[in-house]
Amino acid sequence: MDPQALQSEALAAIASASSAPELDDARVKYLGRKSELKLALREVRDRETGMALNAVREAVEQAVEAREAALERAELDRTIAEDRVDVTLPGTPHPRGHLHLITQVRREVEDIFVGMGYEVVDGREVETTRYLFDALNMGPAHITRSPLHTLYVGGDTVLRTETSPAQIHTMEAKQPPIYMVSLGRTYRRDTADATHSPYFHQVEGLVVDRGITLADLKGTLLQLLRALFGQDRRARFTTDFFPFTEPSMQVAVSCFVCDGAGCSMCKHSGWIEIGGSGMVDPNVLRWVGYDPEEVSGFAFGWGLERMAILRHELPDIRNLWSGDLRFLRQF
Ligand code: DAH
Repeated sequence: MDPQALQSEALAAIASASSAPELDDARVKYLGRKSELKLALREVRDRETGMALNAVREAVEQAVEAREAALERAELDRTIAEDRVDVTLPGTPHPRGHLHLITQVRREVEDIFVGMGYEVVDGREVETTRYLFDALNMGPAHITRSPLHTLYVGGDTVLRTETSPAQIHTMEAKQPPIYMVSLGRTYRRDTADATHSPYFHQVEGLVVDRGITLADLKGTLLQLLRALFGQDRRARFTTDFFPFTEPSMQVAVSCFVCDGAGCSMCKHSGWIEIGGSGMVDPNVLRWVGYDPEEVSGFAFGWGLERMAILRHELPDIRNLWSGDLRFLRQF
């Protein structure tokens, strides 16, 4: 075997290896345990041949290393070139959700009242008949106590049919002055149709302070109506009845479509009814230990779905809870 010839052959093979596996084949062939070189090295008898063969081994080993590094660098260059991110290309848009329409209305109403210095308090969806009925001046025979109206969880435990019990919890927890709103879900034993749902949301408001009058109620609710339906709106207050207010009033807003002229939105009356309100009944104040001679208050409870339906002219309340993204994405 001619060491020089072997070396040239090996170096040529290594130089022409164009990938890691090809280089590995060459390495095994020329440096492997059964390679011509290794077998020859094992049989060396004289120093001169040994030195010559070792020089060949070293040269081949270095060539393999150098080629390996070169191939790695080429591979890296290739990946960099091929996988380069063109930051000027438009990105892939990620679909993003947004707040549900009712959550938007809820936050809007909260903001309006926070802006007037009110506190936002949490109510309880699961209540007792004591807070839902007794404290709100509803006698033992009151019609909404019936399981045909109210969902009983068991015994005296019920799902609230209105947010009004939050008034009682708030008044029990602190002394006047009270300026609060409480927004949340309510439940009624209703069959769902275009205008009814067994669950919906209300905003409850309560003010108790010295010298609160009907004028405060009217001014505050007009403010709310204008924030919701436009600064040119007018408010109409008509008598109504709620057990926990005296006097009680139904609040209507001048139609924001025809401004009172009469159209299909306001059923040609010029007015759209929004919800109930009234001066807190002295019995309710007494229940929580307040003195009706010292303080007075007003309260209101309006539906959030109704606000959303009116503002967007939605045809069916059930759309709000159907989870149909084609509907929900519009808002
Ligand atoms: N709770 C009443 C309802 O669900 C609405 C209501 C009316 C709330 C008058 C009040 C109020 O606080 O003063 O129909």
